[in-house]
Amino acid sequence: MATISRMASGKPDASAILSKGAYYILDRCASHSEVYPVVCEAFYSGVEKLAGEESAKHVRRDGLAMLHKHFPTEKVLLLEEYVRSALKETLLDWSFRVGSEDLGLSHPFYVDHLIVIRIHYPFDVARKAKTAERPDAARADFWDHAVSAIRNPRIILNQASRAIRRPRKNSSYDPDQFHGALAKPARSHGAHIDTWYGHSFDGINLWWSIDGVNVDNTVILYPDMFARPVDFDPKSMYLSKGQQVSEPHQVDLKPGELLLFNPEMLHSTQVNVSETTRVALTTRINPHEPKFNDEAPFNFEHWHNSRDIEHRKYKALDVFPAGKHRGEPSYLSRPRYESATTKTISVNHPSSEGPACAIGDLTPGVKVAVDFPDAKVILWRDANNEIKAYSRLCPHVGVDLVDGWHDADHVHCPGHGLKFAWEDGHSNCASFKLRAYGVELRDGGVFLFKRPQGASAGAEAAASV
Ligand code: FES
Ligand SMILES: [Fe+2]
Repeated sequence: MATISRMASGKPDASAILSKGAYYILDRCASHSEVYPVVCEAFYSGVEKLAGEESAKHVRRDGLAMLHKHFPTEKVLLLEEYVRSALKETLLDWSFRVGSEDLGLSHPFYVDHLIVIRIHYPFDVARKAKTAERPDAARADFWDHAVSAIRNPRIILNQASRAIRRPRKNSSYDPDQFHGALAKPARSHGAHIDTWYGHSFDGINLWWSIDGVNVDNTVILYPDMFARPVDFDPKSMYLSKGQQVSEPHQVDLKPGELLLFNPEMLHSTQVNVSETTRVALTTRINPHEPKFNDEAPFNFEHWHNSRDIEHRKYKALDVFPAGKHRGEPSYLSRPRYESATTKTISVNHPSSEGPACAIGDLTPGVKVAVDFPDAKVILWRDANNEIKAYSRLCPHVGVDLVDGWHDADHVHCPGHGLKFAWEDGHSNCASFKLRAYGVELRDGGVFLFKRPQGASAGAEAAASV
Protein backbone atom coordinates (compact mmCIF):
# COMPACT_ATOMS: atom_id res chain seq x y z
CA MET A 1 0.00 0.00 0.00
CA ALA A 2 1.21 3.45 -0.88
CA THR A 3 4.73 2.96 -2.08
CA ILE A 4 6.95 5.72 -3.43
CA SER A 5 8.63 5.53 -6.81
CA ARG A 6 11.27 7.89 -8.13
CA MET A 7 11.01 7.81 -11.88
CA ALA A 8 13.71 9.03 -14.20
CA SER A 9 11.80 7.56 -17.11
CA GLY A 10 8.66 5.56 -17.70
CA LYS A 11 5.22 6.53 -16.55
CA PRO A 12 3.53 6.74 -13.19
CA ASP A 13 0.42 4.63 -12.81
CA ALA A 14 -2.66 6.85 -12.35
CA SER A 15 -4.86 3.97 -11.22
CA ALA A 16 -2.32 2.99 -8.52
CA ILE A 17 -2.40 6.59 -7.26
CA LEU A 18 -6.18 6.49 -6.96
CA SER A 19 -6.70 2.99 -5.62
CA LYS A 20 -3.52 2.34 -3.63
CA GLY A 21 -2.24 5.77 -2.71
CA ALA A 22 0.96 5.16 -4.68
CA TYR A 23 3.01 8.30 -5.16
CA TYR A 24 5.69 9.20 -7.64
CA ILE A 25 8.51 11.67 -8.05
CA LEU A 26 9.31 12.59 -11.63
CA ASP A 27 12.69 14.16 -12.18
CA ARG A 28 11.58 15.67 -15.49
CA CYS A 29 7.87 16.00 -16.10
CA ALA A 30 6.20 16.67 -19.44
CA SER A 31 7.06 20.06 -20.95
CA HIS A 32 9.61 20.68 -18.20
CA SER A 33 12.19 22.35 -20.42
CA GLU A 34 9.64 24.82 -21.83
CA VAL A 35 7.67 25.59 -18.68
CA TYR A 36 10.20 25.50 -15.85
CA PRO A 37 12.19 28.58 -17.01
CA VAL A 38 8.90 30.48 -17.50
CA VAL A 39 7.86 29.65 -13.94
CA CYS A 40 11.18 30.84 -12.47
CA GLU A 41 10.99 34.00 -14.55
CA ALA A 42 7.50 34.76 -13.20
CA PHE A 43 8.90 34.69 -9.64
CA TYR A 44 11.81 36.96 -10.59
CA SER A 45 9.58 39.48 -12.31
CA GLY A 46 7.18 39.41 -9.34
CA VAL A 47 10.07 40.18 -7.00
CA GLU A 48 11.14 43.04 -9.25
CA LYS A 49 7.65 44.50 -9.44
CA LEU A 50 7.01 44.23 -5.70
CA ALA A 51 10.46 44.91 -4.22
CA GLY A 52 12.55 46.50 -6.93
CA GLU A 53 15.36 45.67 -9.33
CA GLU A 54 18.03 45.22 -6.70
CA SER A 55 16.04 42.53 -4.91
CA ALA A 56 15.36 40.73 -8.16
CA LYS A 57 19.05 40.83 -9.07
CA HIS A 58 20.00 39.17 -5.76
CA VAL A 59 17.26 36.56 -6.03
CA ARG A 60 18.38 35.64 -9.55
CA ARG A 61 21.95 35.34 -8.26
CA ASP A 62 21.21 33.31 -5.10
CA GLY A 63 18.14 31.37 -6.23
CA LEU A 64 14.54 31.28 -5.01
CA ALA A 65 15.56 29.15 -2.04
CA MET A 66 17.24 32.31 -0.71
CA LEU A 67 14.19 34.52 -1.30
CA HIS A 68 13.90 35.30 2.41
CA LYS A 69 17.27 37.09 2.30
CA HIS A 70 16.17 39.56 -0.37
CA PHE A 71 12.38 39.88 -0.34
CA PRO A 72 10.25 41.15 2.56
CA THR A 73 8.19 38.54 4.39
CA GLU A 74 5.27 40.94 4.54
CA LYS A 75 4.90 40.82 0.75
CA VAL A 76 5.02 37.04 0.31
CA LEU A 77 1.25 36.70 -0.16
CA LEU A 78 1.36 39.39 -2.86
CA LEU A 79 4.13 37.53 -4.66
CA GLU A 80 2.17 34.28 -4.54
CA GLU A 81 -0.83 36.00 -6.14
CA TYR A 82 1.34 37.75 -8.75
CA VAL A 83 2.83 34.43 -9.85
CA ARG A 84 -0.51 32.64 -9.80
CA SER A 85 -2.06 35.25 -11.97
CA ALA A 86 0.89 35.45 -14.37
CA LEU A 87 1.10 31.68 -14.81
CA LYS A 88 -2.56 30.67 -14.95
CA GLU A 89 -2.61 29.65 -18.59
CA THR A 90 0.93 28.28 -18.55
CA LEU A 91 0.08 26.01 -15.62
CA LEU A 92 -3.18 24.84 -17.14
CA ASP A 93 -1.21 23.81 -20.22
CA TRP A 94 1.46 22.20 -18.09
CA SER A 95 -1.11 20.25 -16.04
CA PHE A 96 -2.75 19.06 -19.24
CA ARG A 97 0.59 17.87 -20.60
CA VAL A 98 1.46 16.05 -17.35
CA GLY A 99 -2.01 14.44 -17.40
CA SER A 100 -1.83 13.26 -20.96
CA GLU A 101 1.90 12.53 -21.37
CA ASP A 102 3.07 11.46 -17.90
CA LEU A 103 -0.13 9.95 -16.56
CA GLY A 104 -1.42 8.68 -19.91
CA LEU A 105 -4.92 10.09 -19.39
CA SER A 106 -7.23 10.44 -22.35
CA HIS A 107 -9.95 13.00 -23.05
CA PRO A 108 -11.86 14.13 -21.21
CA PHE A 109 -10.04 14.67 -17.96
CA TYR A 110 -10.21 17.74 -15.76
CA VAL A 111 -7.84 20.30 -14.30
CA ASP A 112 -8.96 22.19 -11.21
CA HIS A 113 -9.40 25.93 -11.62
CA LEU A 114 -7.52 26.31 -8.34
CA ILE A 115 -3.78 26.83 -8.62
CA VAL A 116 -1.79 27.37 -5.45
CA ILE A 117 1.65 28.97 -5.16
CA ARG A 118 3.39 27.99 -1.94
CA ILE A 119 6.19 30.11 -0.54
CA HIS A 120 7.34 29.18 2.96
CA TYR A 121 10.13 31.16 4.57
CA PRO A 122 12.22 29.60 7.33
CA PHE A 123 10.01 29.67 10.41
CA ASP A 124 12.25 31.91 12.47
CA VAL A 125 12.16 34.52 9.70
CA ALA A 126 8.46 34.20 8.89
CA ARG A 127 7.28 34.42 12.48
CA LYS A 128 8.71 37.95 12.76
CA ALA A 129 6.40 39.33 10.06
CA LYS A 130 4.48 42.22 11.57
CA THR A 131 1.82 42.34 8.90
CA ALA A 132 1.03 40.48 5.72
CA GLU A 133 -0.16 42.48 2.75
CA ARG A 134 -3.05 40.57 1.26
CA PRO A 135 -3.82 40.43 -2.45
CA ASP A 136 -7.34 40.92 -3.70
CA ALA A 137 -7.53 37.40 -5.11
CA ALA A 138 -11.31 37.27 -4.65
CA ARG A 139 -11.79 40.13 -7.10
CA ALA A 140 -9.49 38.50 -9.68
CA ASP A 141 -11.43 35.25 -9.31
CA PHE A 142 -14.75 37.04 -9.60
CA TRP A 143 -13.78 38.50 -12.98
CA ASP A 144 -12.37 35.17 -14.10
CA HIS A 145 -15.65 33.48 -13.34
CA ALA A 146 -17.67 36.30 -14.86
CA VAL A 147 -15.86 35.87 -18.19
CA SER A 148 -16.31 32.10 -18.01
CA ALA A 149 -19.99 32.47 -17.13
CA ILE A 150 -20.65 34.31 -20.41
CA ARG A 151 -19.71 31.06 -22.16
CA ASN A 152 -21.30 28.77 -19.61
CA PRO A 153 -24.39 30.21 -17.85
CA ARG A 154 -24.60 27.10 -15.65
CA ILE A 155 -21.84 28.70 -13.57
CA ILE A 156 -24.23 31.49 -12.56
CA LEU A 157 -27.15 29.10 -12.07
CA ASN A 158 -25.04 26.97 -9.78
CA GLN A 159 -23.88 29.94 -7.71
CA ALA A 160 -27.48 31.10 -7.30
CA SER A 161 -28.84 27.68 -6.40
CA ARG A 162 -25.98 27.09 -3.97
CA ALA A 163 -26.76 30.34 -2.17
CA ILE A 164 -30.44 29.39 -1.85
CA ARG A 165 -30.10 25.66 -1.25
CA ARG A 166 -27.23 25.57 1.15
CA PRO A 167 -25.82 28.62 2.79
CA ARG A 168 -22.44 27.65 4.15
CA LYS A 169 -22.59 24.88 6.67
CA ASN A 170 -20.03 24.19 9.33
CA SER A 171 -19.73 27.83 10.24
CA SER A 172 -17.47 26.70 13.08
CA TYR A 173 -14.57 26.61 10.59
CA ASP A 174 -12.04 29.01 12.10
CA PRO A 175 -8.41 28.41 11.10
CA ASP A 176 -7.26 31.52 12.99
CA GLN A 177 -8.07 29.82 16.26
CA PHE A 178 -5.81 26.87 15.41
CA HIS A 179 -2.85 29.07 14.46
CA GLY A 180 -3.22 31.42 17.39
CA ALA A 181 -0.98 34.46 17.25
CA LEU A 182 1.26 33.11 14.48
CA ALA A 183 1.86 35.60 11.69
CA LYS A 184 0.17 34.51 8.45
CA PRO A 185 3.41 33.92 6.53
CA ALA A 186 4.56 31.56 9.32
CA ARG A 187 1.49 29.31 9.19
CA SER A 188 1.61 25.77 7.84
CA HIS A 189 -1.18 23.35 7.05
CA GLY A 190 -1.89 20.81 9.75
CA ALA A 191 -2.54 17.19 8.80
CA HIS A 192 -5.59 16.93 6.56
CA ILE A 193 -7.27 15.20 3.66
CA ASP A 194 -8.33 17.48 0.83
CA THR A 195 -11.90 16.21 0.55
CA TRP A 196 -12.54 17.59 4.06
CA TYR A 197 -12.22 21.00 2.38
CA GLY A 198 -14.59 20.18 -0.46
CA HIS A 199 -12.03 19.05 -3.00
CA SER A 200 -13.03 16.23 -5.32
CA PHE A 201 -12.62 12.54 -4.63
CA ASP A 202 -10.15 10.65 -6.81
CA GLY A 203 -7.92 13.59 -7.61
CA ILE A 204 -4.19 13.61 -8.32
CA ASN A 205 -2.12 16.45 -6.90
CA LEU A 206 0.75 17.82 -8.96
CA TRP A 207 3.15 19.23 -6.37
CA TRP A 208 6.06 20.90 -8.12
CA SER A 209 9.27 21.79 -6.31
CA ILE A 210 10.60 24.95 -7.92
CA ASP A 211 13.94 25.43 -6.19
CA GLY A 212 14.30 22.28 -4.13
CA VAL A 213 12.52 20.96 -1.08
CA ASN A 214 14.23 19.20 1.79
CA VAL A 215 12.96 17.08 4.66
CA ASP A 216 12.88 20.14 6.91
CA ASN A 217 10.54 22.24 4.75
CA THR A 218 8.57 19.75 2.75
CA VAL A 219 5.12 18.25 2.39
CA ILE A 220 4.61 15.35 4.82
CA LEU A 221 2.74 12.28 3.60
CA TYR A 222 1.27 9.55 5.81
CA PRO A 223 1.15 6.57 3.43
CA ASP A 224 -0.13 4.07 5.96
CA MET A 225 -3.13 6.28 6.72
CA PHE A 226 -4.36 5.97 3.14
CA ALA A 227 -7.86 4.49 2.75
CA ARG A 228 -8.37 4.39 6.52
CA PRO A 229 -11.04 6.35 8.34
CA VAL A 230 -9.57 9.55 9.78
CA ASP A 231 -11.44 12.05 11.95
CA PHE A 232 -11.13 15.78 11.61
CA ASP A 233 -11.85 18.74 13.82
CA PRO A 234 -14.54 20.92 12.18
CA LYS A 235 -13.05 24.09 13.65
CA SER A 236 -9.59 23.78 12.15
CA MET A 237 -10.44 21.21 9.44
CA TYR A 238 -7.27 19.43 10.47
CA LEU A 239 -6.74 16.07 12.15
CA SER A 240 -8.82 15.71 15.29
CA LYS A 241 -7.37 15.09 18.73
CA GLY A 242 -7.17 11.44 19.65
CA GLN A 243 -6.47 10.26 16.10
CA GLN A 244 -3.13 8.51 16.03
CA VAL A 245 -1.05 8.65 12.88
CA SER A 246 1.37 6.33 11.14
CA GLU A 247 4.99 7.00 10.20
CA PRO A 248 5.40 10.32 8.35
CA HIS A 249 7.19 10.41 5.05
CA GLN A 250 9.03 13.69 4.50
CA VAL A 251 9.71 13.96 0.79
CA ASP A 252 12.86 15.64 -0.47
CA LEU A 253 12.80 16.97 -4.02
CA LYS A 254 15.44 18.54 -6.23
CA PRO A 255 14.65 21.76 -8.10
CA GLY A 256 12.11 20.96 -10.82
CA GLU A 257 11.11 17.54 -9.50
CA LEU A 258 7.40 16.80 -9.47
CA LEU A 259 5.59 14.84 -6.77
CA LEU A 260 2.33 13.16 -7.80
CA PHE A 261 0.13 11.99 -4.95
CA ASN A 262 -3.45 11.31 -3.98
CA PRO A 263 -4.68 14.11 -1.70
CA GLU A 264 -6.97 11.63 0.05
CA MET A 265 -3.80 10.45 1.74
CA LEU A 266 -3.34 12.33 5.01
CA HIS A 267 -0.72 15.05 4.48
CA SER A 268 0.53 18.25 6.06
CA THR A 269 3.11 20.99 5.66
CA GLN A 270 6.39 20.65 7.51
CA VAL A 271 6.99 23.76 9.57
CA ASN A 272 10.01 25.17 7.79
CA VAL A 273 12.89 24.45 10.16
CA SER A 274 15.44 24.59 7.35
CA GLU A 275 17.51 27.57 6.35
CA THR A 276 15.99 27.78 2.90
CA THR A 277 12.72 29.08 1.49
CA ARG A 278 10.44 26.44 0.12
CA VAL A 279 8.98 27.45 -3.24
CA ALA A 280 6.46 25.06 -4.72
CA LEU A 281 3.22 25.15 -6.66
CA THR A 282 0.31 22.79 -6.95
CA THR A 283 -2.42 22.00 -9.43
CA ARG A 284 -4.84 19.11 -9.47
CA ILE A 285 -6.12 16.67 -12.04
CA ASN A 286 -9.21 14.52 -11.97
CA PRO A 287 -9.06 11.63 -14.44
CA HIS A 288 -12.88 11.51 -14.49
CA GLU A 289 -15.74 13.89 -13.75
CA PRO A 290 -15.16 15.28 -10.26
CA LYS A 291 -17.45 14.11 -7.46
CA PHE A 292 -17.65 15.57 -3.99
CA ASN A 293 -18.38 15.31 -0.35
CA ASP A 294 -21.44 17.56 -0.36
CA GLU A 295 -21.19 17.98 3.42
CA ALA A 296 -18.00 20.04 3.15
CA PRO A 297 -18.35 23.74 3.99
CA PHE A 298 -17.49 24.65 0.41
CA ASN A 299 -16.65 22.76 -2.77
CA PHE A 300 -14.27 23.28 -5.67
CA GLU A 301 -16.75 22.88 -8.50
CA HIS A 302 -15.03 24.68 -11.38
CA TRP A 303 -12.80 22.70 -13.68
CA HIS A 304 -11.08 23.02 -17.03
CA ASN A 305 -11.82 20.28 -19.50
CA SER A 306 -8.72 18.72 -21.13
CA ARG A 307 -10.23 19.29 -24.61
CA ASP A 308 -10.66 23.00 -23.92
CA ILE A 309 -7.09 23.34 -22.66
CA GLU A 310 -5.75 21.50 -25.67
CA HIS A 311 -7.56 24.03 -27.85
CA ARG A 312 -6.28 26.91 -25.70
CA LYS A 313 -9.74 27.84 -24.50
CA TYR A 314 -8.50 28.81 -21.08
CA LYS A 315 -11.56 30.82 -20.14
CA ALA A 316 -13.89 27.87 -20.69
CA LEU A 317 -14.95 26.31 -17.39
CA ASP A 318 -17.07 23.27 -16.63
CA VAL A 319 -19.10 23.35 -13.43
CA PHE A 320 -19.88 20.25 -11.37
CA PRO A 321 -22.42 21.20 -8.69
CA ALA A 322 -21.57 19.23 -5.57
CA GLY A 323 -25.26 18.56 -4.88
CA LYS A 324 -25.54 16.61 -8.12
CA HIS A 325 -22.02 15.27 -8.31
CA ARG A 326 -21.86 13.56 -4.97
CA GLY A 327 -19.62 10.62 -4.46
CA GLU A 328 -17.30 8.45 -2.53
CA PRO A 329 -13.65 7.67 -3.06
CA SER A 330 -13.00 4.66 -5.24
CA TYR A 331 -10.39 2.95 -3.03
CA LEU A 332 -11.21 -0.04 -0.81
CA SER A 333 -11.38 1.04 2.82
CA ARG A 334 -9.01 -0.35 5.41
CA PRO A 335 -9.42 -0.48 9.20
CA ARG A 336 -8.69 2.56 11.34
CA TYR A 337 -5.04 3.06 12.27
CA GLU A 338 -4.18 2.32 15.90
CA SER A 339 -0.70 2.56 17.33
CA ALA A 340 0.26 -0.59 19.21
CA THR A 341 3.01 1.28 21.02
CA THR A 342 1.01 4.08 22.63
CA LYS A 343 -0.77 3.89 25.94
CA THR A 344 -2.95 6.49 27.69
CA ILE A 345 -3.63 6.80 31.41
CA SER A 346 -5.89 9.24 33.29
CA VAL A 347 -5.41 10.10 36.93
CA ASN A 348 -7.59 12.24 39.19
CA HIS A 349 -4.96 13.93 41.33
CA PRO A 350 -2.82 16.94 40.36
CA SER A 351 0.64 16.12 39.03
CA SER A 352 2.34 17.14 42.29
CA GLU A 353 0.13 15.02 44.54
CA GLY A 354 0.59 11.48 43.41
CA PRO A 355 2.24 9.17 40.89
CA ALA A 356 1.78 9.49 37.14
CA CYS A 357 1.62 5.73 36.82
CA ALA A 358 3.16 2.55 38.17
CA ILE A 359 6.71 1.78 37.12
CA GLY A 360 5.37 -1.39 35.52
CA ASP A 361 3.16 0.72 33.19
CA LEU A 362 6.27 1.81 31.32
CA THR A 363 7.70 -0.58 28.78
CA PRO A 364 10.68 0.25 26.54
CA GLY A 365 9.46 1.39 23.12
CA VAL A 366 5.97 2.34 24.32
CA LYS A 367 5.08 5.98 24.90
CA VAL A 368 2.68 6.63 27.73
CA ALA A 369 0.46 9.70 27.87
CA VAL A 370 -0.77 10.67 31.31
CA ASP A 371 -3.66 13.12 31.74
CA PHE A 372 -3.57 14.85 35.11
CA PRO A 373 -6.29 17.38 35.90
CA ASP A 374 -3.60 20.07 35.70
CA ALA A 375 -1.17 18.74 33.09
CA LYS A 376 -0.72 16.55 30.03
CA VAL A 377 2.52 14.61 30.17
CA ILE A 378 4.28 12.05 28.03
CA LEU A 379 6.54 9.41 29.57
CA TRP A 380 9.17 7.27 27.94
CA ARG A 381 11.32 4.39 29.14
CA ASP A 382 14.32 3.93 26.90
CA ALA A 383 16.33 0.82 26.11
CA ASN A 384 18.61 1.54 29.12
CA ASN A 385 15.55 1.71 31.38
CA GLU A 386 15.87 5.43 31.93
CA ILE A 387 12.52 7.13 32.35
CA LYS A 388 11.88 10.58 30.89
CA ALA A 389 8.84 12.80 31.23
CA TYR A 390 7.84 15.85 29.19
CA SER A 391 4.97 18.21 28.79
CA ARG A 392 3.31 16.80 25.70
CA LEU A 393 1.56 19.70 23.94
CA CYS A 394 3.77 20.73 21.05
CA PRO A 395 5.25 24.19 21.68
CA HIS A 396 4.54 25.15 18.05
CA VAL A 397 0.74 25.44 18.10
CA GLY A 398 -0.20 22.99 20.82
CA VAL A 399 -0.99 19.73 18.99
CA ASP A 400 -0.90 16.69 21.30
CA LEU A 401 2.22 14.59 20.76
CA VAL A 402 0.52 11.46 22.03
CA ASP A 403 -1.06 11.06 18.58
CA GLY A 404 2.27 11.25 16.76
CA TRP A 405 4.44 8.46 15.47
CA HIS A 406 7.60 7.64 17.40
CA ASP A 407 10.70 5.52 17.16
CA ALA A 408 13.49 4.79 19.64
CA ASP A 409 14.92 8.30 19.35
CA HIS A 410 12.10 10.75 18.64
CA VAL A 411 8.42 11.50 18.85
CA HIS A 412 7.05 13.26 15.76
CA CYS A 413 4.40 15.92 16.13
CA PRO A 414 1.31 15.06 14.03
CA GLY A 415 0.78 18.80 13.48
CA HIS A 416 3.62 19.96 11.24
CA GLY A 417 6.42 17.47 11.61
CA LEU A 418 8.59 18.82 14.42
CA LYS A 419 10.40 15.91 15.99
CA PHE A 420 11.47 15.86 19.62
CA ALA A 421 14.31 13.78 21.04
CA TRP A 422 13.39 11.43 23.87
CA GLU A 423 16.82 12.07 25.28
CA ASP A 424 16.33 15.72 26.27
CA GLY A 425 13.21 17.07 24.50
CA HIS A 426 15.08 19.17 21.94
CA SER A 427 13.60 19.43 18.47
CA ASN A 428 14.85 20.07 14.96
CA CYS A 429 14.14 23.79 15.49
CA ALA A 430 16.14 25.82 18.00
CA SER A 431 12.97 27.72 19.01
CA PHE A 432 11.10 24.67 20.25
CA LYS A 433 11.92 22.27 23.04
CA LEU A 434 9.70 20.17 25.30
CA ARG A 435 9.55 21.11 28.96
CA ALA A 436 11.04 18.26 30.98
CA TYR A 437 9.78 17.06 34.35
CA GLY A 438 12.00 15.63 37.01
CA VAL A 439 11.28 11.96 37.68
CA GLU A 440 11.50 10.06 40.94
CA LEU A 441 10.74 6.38 41.43
CA ARG A 442 9.42 5.25 44.76
CA ASP A 443 6.98 2.73 46.18
CA GLY A 444 6.53 1.24 42.70
CA GLY A 445 5.27 4.56 41.31
CA VAL A 446 6.59 7.20 38.92
CA PHE A 447 6.44 10.65 40.55
CA LEU A 448 7.02 13.87 38.63
CA PHE A 449 8.18 17.22 39.82
CA LYS A 450 8.50 20.52 38.08
CA ARG A 451 12.02 21.59 37.39
CA PRO A 452 13.24 25.17 37.31
CA GLN A 453 12.62 26.90 33.97
CA GLY A 454 15.62 26.50 31.68
CA ALA A 455 17.18 23.58 33.59
CA SER A 456 18.64 21.03 31.21
CA ALA A 457 16.82 17.77 30.66
CA GLY A 458 19.86 15.68 31.37
CA ALA A 459 20.28 12.93 33.91
CA GLU A 460 18.36 14.75 36.61
CA ALA A 461 15.20 14.71 34.45
CA ALA A 462 15.32 10.98 34.29
CA ALA A 463 15.28 8.14 36.69
CA SER A 464 16.62 4.66 36.10
CA VAL A 465 14.60 1.60 36.92
S1 FES B 1 4.69 20.96 14.72
FE1 FES B 1 2.99 22.30 14.69
S2 FES B 1 1.92 21.79 16.49
FE2 FES B 1 3.65 20.52 16.52
FE1 LIG C 1 -3.81 19.43 0.98
